Amino acid sequence: MLIVKPVPADRLPDLLRLMPKAELHIHIEGSLEPELMFAMAQRNGLAMPYPDVESLRRAYVFDNLQDFLDIYHAGTLVLRTEQDFYDMTHAYLARAAADNVVHAEIFFDTQTHTGHGVSTDTVIKGLHRACADAQAEFGISASLILCFLRHLSEEAAFECLEQALPLREKLVGIGLASSELGHPPEKFARVFARARELGFRLVAHAGEEGPPAYIWSALDVLKVERIDHGVQAINDPALMARLLKDRIPLTVCPLSNLKLRVFPTLAMHNLGRMLDAGIVATINSDDPAYFGGYINQNFTQTFDALGMTAQQAYQLAHNSFGASFIGGSLKHQYIDRLNAMFETFS
Ligand code: ADE
Ligand code: ZN
Repeated sequence: MLIVKPVPADRLPDLLRLMPKAELHIHIEGSLEPELMFAMAQRNGLAMPYPDVESLRRAYVFDNLQDFLDIYHAGTLVLRTEQDFYDMTHAYLARAAADNVVHAEIFFDTQTHTGHGVSTDTVIKGLHRACADAQAEFGISASLILCFLRHLSEEAAFECLEQALPLREKLVGIGLASSELGHPPEKFARVFARARELGFRLVAHAGEEGPPAYIWSALDVLKVERIDHGVQAINDPALMARLLKDRIPLTVCPLSNLKLRVFPTLAMHNLGRMLDAGIVATINSDDPAYFGGYINQNFTQTFDALGMTAQQAYQLAHNSFGASFIGGSLKHQYIDRLNAMFETFS
């Protein structure tokens, strides 16, 4: 770990933008910008419920997670073909590379799309081809994490897993997303046990709106390696001690938390306190087309609101590589690039 020399406040945004980083919490369907959504609706012969891009964007005001999920689900209706899934993922990876994201672990769900008559095959092949092409085109590595929808049954999650198994080598992990309250992790105990047996890496959303108890059961029942969000952990000292002891990473999404009213203002976000406590936190964009910013905007706005430092920037980028599922020597290569960038920045 580097000791970083202080950087003047006016140079901090450049440092945040230029530093290499990994993004570990991005729902690809949440990266679908209104312009591309309208283009897909047109080419697929579908009517949009809003007359234009601007009026759709104006609808992106949310009181809570469920409010958002309803609009987000409506947006996914335009995705019909493998090319649609390819184009959405290609657009995200191009945008992420411009923010100096060098590695992305991308969430997607198939249950939304199979519910609209689109096959699991179509979804995964489109996403995977875009990830493979992005390596050559943008120099970015990317892998895929299939999320079960927790408002549906465990039986439905088993069926989802079964349908994805022929494409197993295109996926790195399994996650858990959608409406959190009332759908605790333990509802998915058996299907996560099965995914673990199959060798998938495991993550779950927990403690976004839900209580610390959901983080405990994600760890102890589902046996996940990372917690997505996890910001409610701060209300449970024993849980904070557990996250520290086992170095469990949290993939934090500040602008998402702001837009979904988890925190009233960014200045009240607990990310700085989490880092001060030694938690392995990372910064991510969650659903950037809906929450007003990609990863660098999450970094710059949070640093501005919380008065965070260059040392914390380094820590967050280092955490992002450390917490990733990158295999072999590539993780060390990325950390070497990060160190070199901090040593030469002025
Ligand atoms: N799906 C997309 N974004 C999500 C979030 N922030 N929480 C849970 N499920 C999601
Ligand atoms: Zn999420």
